[in-house]
Parts: sequence; structure tokens; C-alpha cells
Amino acid sequence: FAPKVLRGKKLLITAGPTFEAIDPVRGITNLSSGKMGFAIAAAAQAAGAEVTLVAGPVHLPTPRGVQRINVQSAQQMLAAVQSQVGPADVFIATAAVADWRPANTADQKIKKDGSGEVPALAFVENPDILATVAQSARAQSGALYCVGFAAESHDLLQHAMAKRLRKDVPLLVGNIGPATFGQDDNALLLVDAQGHRELPRAPKTELGVQLVQELARRLAAAPGR
Ligand code: C5P
Repeated sequence: FAPKVLRGKKLLITAGPTFEAIDPVRGITNLSSGKMGFAIAAAAQAAGAEVTLVAGPVHLPTPRGVQRINVQSAQQMLAAVQSQVGPADVFIATAAVADWRPANTADQKIKKDGSGEVPALAFVENPDILATVAQSARAQSGALYCVGFAAESHDLLQHAMAKRLRKDVPLLVGNIGPATFGQDDNALLLVDAQGHRELPRAPKTELGVQLVQELARRLAAAPGR
């Protein structure tokens, strides 16, 4: 049995990609599988937490005992997070949110008219869900502990340290490359105000358990921050 290190805690987790519609049958998305976020959700639930998982379009079963809310777009993900974050003690943003969405979504399928003309796509920036939540009064007061993720291709430690400060979160977790999208294992770099440590390559399910232990230690050490 897993020790109940998160007993009584409420966790809100985002996972997977977002899907940004171009028209009713097309859109842009990315290769996030959602596996890391789902693994954290399962581990946190096993550790006694009450877990709500806001999931983009992924092909994964809901971990036992976890409340799941399915969304498609970044805007929907933000709305779901804002509706659920009120009572949360911890917010973990593992989702690979699309940075941009099409400026306009066509109501009907855009037809190829035979003229050889191609549609011009314009984009607008999506809201940054993690940064938005991290700026909330509860996060700023330390009542809500926020965890961000980072996928970088190079200079992970520097980027992760900078991202932790930019997003204004106490803990930033870097995916140690090569690209981990869709894979069953990963290695993680944990960066907080005290420094950094590595969780060596392991199945994402196992890393979820280790991350929950790291999280519990930080919550116990600094109720607040
Ligand atoms: O800025 P970047 O996308 O690299 O930041 C990654 C972190 O921010 C992840 O924790 C991701 O879930 C979160 N994020 C978000 N909303 C966005 C972009 C990123 O919550 N629009």
C-alpha cells in the first residue's frame, strides 16, 4: 500500500494536448500523450489526495478514484481549471497547451474549391493557464502550491530555472530529453528555490509516485511556500 502522504489534499492537474479547431473537422494539436499527468493523478490518488484531472483529447483510461473533466481547447481548459481551482491545495500543469489558436474558427468545413487557392490561417495567442493560476491571490499567498512543467530541447536547467521565475511557481519540473511525448518513460529535473535534483529515467508511472513524494515533502516543509 502506498503511504497516504497526500491525505486530505485536493489536487487539480491538467494533462494532454489541447485541440484548437480550424473548422468542424480540422484543427491543430500536438503530440502530448497525457501519460505523465495521468501518472501523477493516479499516484496522488493512491497517496490519499482528492484529484481532479482536466484532460485534453487523449486515449487514456481515467485513473481509479479520479474526477476527470474532458476539454478540447486551451480556452476550455482554462475555464475548467478556473471552475475547479477554488478548493485546491495544489495545481499541477502538465498539459501541453497550444501556444496559439486560429483567430477564426469556421462554422462549416472549409471547402477546397479547385482554384488552387489555399486558406490563410491567422493565429492568436492562447491564455497561459499556469501563469494565470499562479497569479491568483491564493497562489500568491501560498495557499495554493503551483507546479509547472517544461519541455526544452537544450539547456534544460537554465530554461527551467528561468521558467520557474517567469511563471512565478515554487516548483518547475523539466522533462529531460530526448522528446518524451508518447513514451512510457521519462527523466525529470526538479527545480525549486532551494536548488535542483534529478529523478533518473524510469517509467512515467514510477516517476508519478516519486513526484508525489517530493511534493508531499515540500508541502510539509512549507505549508504555504
Ligand atoms: O511556456 P511553456 O509552454 O514552456 O510552459 C510550460 C508550462 O506552462 C507547463 O506547465 C504547461 O502546462 C503550462 N502552460 C499553460 N498554459 C499555456 C502554456 C503553458 O498552463 N498556454
